[in-house]
Amino acid sequence: MSLREDIEEIRTQALGELEAVEAGEALEAWRVKYLGSNGAVKAAMQRLKEVPKEQKPALGKAANELKNALAAAMQARARQIAAGPATKAAGDGIDITLPGQRPRIGHTHIITQTVSEICEIFARMGFTVATGPEVEDEDHNFNALNIPPEHPARDPLDNFYIDAHTMLRSQTSTVQIRVMENTTPPVRIISPGRVYRPDTVDATHSFMFHQVEGLYVDEHVTMADLKTCLDQFCKAYFGPEVATCFRPSFFPFTEPSAEVDIESHRPDGTGYWIELGGCGMVDPNVLDAVGYDSERYTGYAFGLGIERMIQRKHAIPDIRLLFGSDIRFLHQF
Ligand code: FA5
Repeated sequence: MSLREDIEEIRTQALGELEAVEAGEALEAWRVKYLGSNGAVKAAMQRLKEVPKEQKPALGKAANELKNALAAAMQARARQIAAGPATKAAGDGIDITLPGQRPRIGHTHIITQTVSEICEIFARMGFTVATGPEVEDEDHNFNALNIPPEHPARDPLDNFYIDAHTMLRSQTSTVQIRVMENTTPPVRIISPGRVYRPDTVDATHSFMFHQVEGLYVDEHVTMADLKTCLDQFCKAYFGPEVATCFRPSFFPFTEPSAEVDIESHRPDGTGYWIELGGCGMVDPNVLDAVGYDSERYTGYAFGLGIERMIQRKHAIPDIRLLFGSDIRFLHQF
């Protein structure tokens, strides 16, 4: 047999036998047989002396490659044996029986996690998720919401205008209008998303924050449905013992209107109310403006501040921590 044939024969035989090796001792015996000082590879290398001079470089290279290939295969087999019987390689060396590995670093931001959780809770109550643009026209941000041109909420100092009629939306209530314009009742949606206001930044205010809007329009919808829905949501998100409070309020697009507060506690145990959002029964003017029959349909709407919810649930004293990108803080969630 020529040396080249010998090398190929050793390779085929060695790798075939390695497949069947199941334990450390058998692997050591295999190593001695093929890679040991009296092993098959060494014997093949010694035969290099016999070959004609001009063939030596090519055959020497082939013998070296054989040695390296067998050493690498042995190491791979040793790792598989150490990992246990279920991890036998599938053909190309990728173990398809191992469970998938999660990335070692990184996860979704607590705000993103909370948006998913909110959507899941409302989905259980029959709400689907709608979206709308963050760059809005004043029709959707104000006019269709019954907020007339002279209303103080439209003041340029209280909004981020892009031009005279376009702005970064200041509330997710815009999506109520966009959905009703394109849907016949009944409607039951929530819409989470970013909103923008040039508020002075403090522990509970940011110039960009998230709201979740809710809208339910059907025949016979009442304020009792609204209270039940928000109460159930708060219990599902914050826990069954959380207390909610509805305070009379005013919004141009709901009548009657209320603010919903939830009970919080200071470290010394004293309680206080934290405002979560606004809500109310959709004003008939709003229903009429989108072409709904306000004699037949009634509805409720709400808009809750998502950062406020997170602050309350996780006892985060300052909203700025949520936007600070400090991974020591973010790692905790
Ligand atoms: C509104 O934005 C109304 N669109 C809510 C509404 C919807 C009423 C549907 C009726 C029917 P308000 O301006 O109060 O309401 O904001 C709602 C919530 O957003 C607040 O209660 C608070 O939780 C949160 N929020 C308001 N401003 C900020 C801010 N600068 N930073 C963080 N959260 C804020």
